[in-house]
Amino acid sequence: MKIINWFKKKKQSALTIPEHLAIIMDGNGRWAEKRGLPRSAGHRAGLERLRDLLETCLEYGVKYLTVYAFSTENWRRPPEEVDYLMGLFLEALQNEVPKLHQRQIRVRFIGLKENLKPELVTLMEEAEKLTAANRLLTLNIAINYGGRAEILAAIKGVLRQVKDGKLDPEQFQEEDFTKRLFTTGQPDPDLLIRPGGEWRISNFLIWQAAYTELYFSKHYWPDFSKEHLLAAFESFSRRERRYGQVKGGGKGR
Ligand code: FPP
Repeated sequence: MKIINWFKKKKQSALTIPEHLAIIMDGNGRWAEKRGLPRSAGHRAGLERLRDLLETCLEYGVKYLTVYAFSTENWRRPPEEVDYLMGLFLEALQNEVPKLHQRQIRVRFIGLKENLKPELVTLMEEAEKLTAANRLLTLNIAINYGGRAEILAAIKGVLRQVKDGKLDPEQFQEEDFTKRLFTTGQPDPDLLIRPGGEWRISNFLIWQAAYTELYFSKHYWPDFSKEHLLAAFESFSRRERRYGQVKGGGKGR
């Protein structure tokens, strides 16, 4: 984690920047409804917000940014909203991936590929391939993602190997399980932000977020500005992360 000096108007304070930041981009629909606009306008505004805050993450040295774009439960929304979101993902990948690549950003997708349109899956795979060697920041986009579905898929993989006699359950460690998740090889999130006024994590990174600091904000995602993000970093900087130990006990479990 990187400590930088952050100069506020009146005081100087050390800001701890999360190495891995996760965001549940909530409140797009209500943002739009409040303005008498269709919900689709909220999703488009949410994409703009993501574009802006990605800049802030780069500026402050965040190394991993994981955003919840579409959950396994979001298929239950009206078909026209699902179609709009899928179209928005297609458009965003076509327009944004070359720019992300230029900026040394690695794009990864977490979630199940099943049920997604083949042209979207193709673009996702191409984006991952094109940006695979980039290391300035890793952007994980969760599409058709659910924490329980992710864990279940990992368990099925383990059971298959046990059944084939390729894995000894007695030797199986926590790390062996973590390797089977979509976020394999990446650190767990340090900070999870949920704007939009709801206080829950909604099946997002439920394994990985075991020791993650949580930050909830009443502002809808399209209104969640750079200042709000810095306020979340400031709150994170004040947290004492004990990982189950006593004060001053160091990092561990
Ligand atoms: C939740 O708000 C938001 C979504 C289900 C969609 C989020 C998607 C984007 C911001 C586009 C991102 C695109 C890419 C390619 C990363 P909500 O609609 O549930 O809000 P509500 O609770 O106010 O109804």
